[in-house]
Amino acid sequence: MRFSLAVNTFFATALFATTFTVSAMAELPPGPGHDETTKVCGKCHSPEQAASLHQSKTGWEETISKMVNMGSEGTDEEYEAILNYLVKNFGPEAAKPVNVNKATGVELEAGLGLSRTESAAVLQYRADKGDFKTLDDLKAVPGLDFKKVEAKKARVTF
Ligand code: HEC
Repeated sequence: MRFSLAVNTFFATALFATTFTVSAMAELPPGPGHDETTKVCGKCHSPEQAASLHQSKTGWEETISKMVNMGSEGTDEEYEAILNYLVKNFGPEAAKPVNVNKATGVELEAGLGLSRTESAAVLQYRADKGDFKTLDDLKAVPGLDFKKVEAKKARVTF
């Protein structure tokens, strides 16, 4: 009896850890360089943290050199793929502000990484209840994964 309880707890913990990792990784859009970034840049911190900045190519080159100086290990090909991936997906132009009270569905999807269903839910909620005033107001939108909005909160405007 005790044993099976312990086992259940173990599985619950493992399941929680797995779910958590998967949702954290979902922040990195798929595409060339994704796997290298996850592998090389996910060793010391979450790969998500690796993509926590929006900067130019020069900026990313500097960040990568800094990580290499701190002990990051990878091949030249891997770093090349990572650099291209980060510049493409986390370049300065990607950081345009998104006004959640005026944005179209497509702008919400592109700017905040929402799914089509989620952006539709935001539009619906906005139509029903009026303008959002704070980030927290978005928590009330049914079916919206608030973590996605929170991750991009620097670009959310009202
Ligand atoms: C050897 C361990 C290690 C690896 C591998 C690593 N990092 Fe880091 N990274 C760190 C540490 C430690 C910090 C916190 C440093 C600080 O606060 O100065 C950090 C912080 C960051 C930050 C936050 C901003 C900053 O400059 O401090 C970014 C962005 C980042 N890493 C990107 C990357 C990328 C991209 C890769 C893959 C090329 C990577 N990291 C691989 C150790 C690592």
